[in-house]
Amino acid sequence: MAEKRVNSTAPDPWAEVAERLGADLFLDLQPDPAAGARGRGATRRRALTEALRSAILDDRLPAGTALPPYRSLAADLGLARGTVSAVYSELIAEGWLTARQGSATRVADGAARPPAVDDPGASTARPALRHDFSLGRPCAGMFPRNDWIRATRRALTETPDDAFAPAHPRGRAELRGALTGYLARTRGVRTGPDQIVLGTSVLSALELLARTVIDGVVAVESHGLPFHRHALERGGARVVPVRIDSDGMVIDELERTGATAVLLTPSHQFPTGVALSPARRMQVVDWARRTGAVIVEDDYDGEFRYDREPVGALQALGPDVVIHTGSLSKSLSPAVRAGWLAAPAHLVEPILAGKGLREADASIVDQLTLAELIDSGAYDRHIRRSRQAYRARRDALVKALAGVGLEVPGIAAGLHALIPVAHAEEGAIVHRAYERGIAVTGQSLFRHPDADPLPSGGIGVGFGTPAASTFSTDLGALTGLLADYVGR
Ligand SMILES: Cc1ncc(COP(=O)(O)O)c(C=O)c1O
Repeated sequence: MAEKRVNSTAPDPWAEVAERLGADLFLDLQPDPAAGARGRGATRRRALTEALRSAILDDRLPAGTALPPYRSLAADLGLARGTVSAVYSELIAEGWLTARQGSATRVADGAARPPAVDDPGASTARPALRHDFSLGRPCAGMFPRNDWIRATRRALTETPDDAFAPAHPRGRAELRGALTGYLARTRGVRTGPDQIVLGTSVLSALELLARTVIDGVVAVESHGLPFHRHALERGGARVVPVRIDSDGMVIDELERTGATAVLLTPSHQFPTGVALSPARRMQVVDWARRTGAVIVEDDYDGEFRYDREPVGALQALGPDVVIHTGSLSKSLSPAVRAGWLAAPAHLVEPILAGKGLREADASIVDQLTLAELIDSGAYDRHIRRSRQAYRARRDALVKALAGVGLEVPGIAAGLHALIPVAHAEEGAIVHRAYERGIAVTGQSLFRHPDADPLPSGGIGVGFGTPAASTFSTDLGALTGLLADYVGR
């Protein structure tokens, strides 16, 4: 860490920044000259992540080194606190760093992998990904190609020419009509075609809501997708975390935040996998009605429930206060950028006003195709087939892990499970997984920087991701990895 190198090709703001860190920590933060103003935040985050990784790999930050608190590092580097905290979270989840409550974030034991004597390049080579349990993905091989082709052909043959003109920001009426019926039938959502606004994703719906009908203090679950929180922040909201337990968000604590909106994953909390209890569902709707707050329901994997106890959408309990959002990212593929929101009638116009005169991003051809897929029944068939396949995968995962003494908590649902492990071991397991070419995700990645850690750490496993042909082998590799840590 003693070495100080400053990029001499001035002017270089990043070299300056590195210089300012002085003896505490030298970081080689290279600017990306190609990055425009919009990409700069992401670029800086990547640069910091890479700089920390290479400082660890080079042994400039040896195991056990305490890093500065993220707030100080952010101030030193002139970066947003959220950026530095997200970088720390990412590196903790990957096993490079460890965090323990009440003590500094440190470089994890064994994080640096010194090059083998006969293989000087080995330390920086990324191990090949061999067993992919990444979160958030359906099995790519299950995409219903033939159904999609048939639906596209039919939609394009039958649709009037006006479909190929610039589109209204609401999105195509065919899909809004089809979704009204589908969401009512499968999720109990009480809406109508005029209350549905189409877009590309849940993320784009959150961005739109944050620019239009949500502001002030927005509460989120203490653990959730960082980029969802960031989307709300970009819209100007102050995002505050609220504790979750085995019944979902603790609504008593939400009531004390003074929030004017809350983002929830009530049917299957992401990432812990619990459901918001019936009593808390009533309580949150009651809170919104009493205070004039808005509830945003992210119903990202509502179709995939395997235990014959499907829970309907929260929106059904409070169509006057809940904005329901969903997309195809879990049910079909994140490569088809199609999503929706169903809003209380009085919020529709302000939301639409935020979109401008035309639909700017979503593909109208895909909207027509999806409408046809739903109306023809092919989408329902796909969901039923997928549900069966994912249920079998989850059962296999539960059985395999029980064999090594591990439980899979949370409801039987979705495409992922969070396996509890000791906090102290989470980073090491993720890192060991990385070395073995197994992609898993540490729970700490999802913690809001101001939230307390959950009682235990966790390893997130996306059991939908592996190919059907390799699932058993992949599961064997995962079980072998976790077995090494059980009961230690
Ligand atoms: C919690 C959660 N919400 C929503 C989504 C859907 O994301 P999007 O529609 O933005 O692709 C995902 C998918 O990864 C998710 O994990």
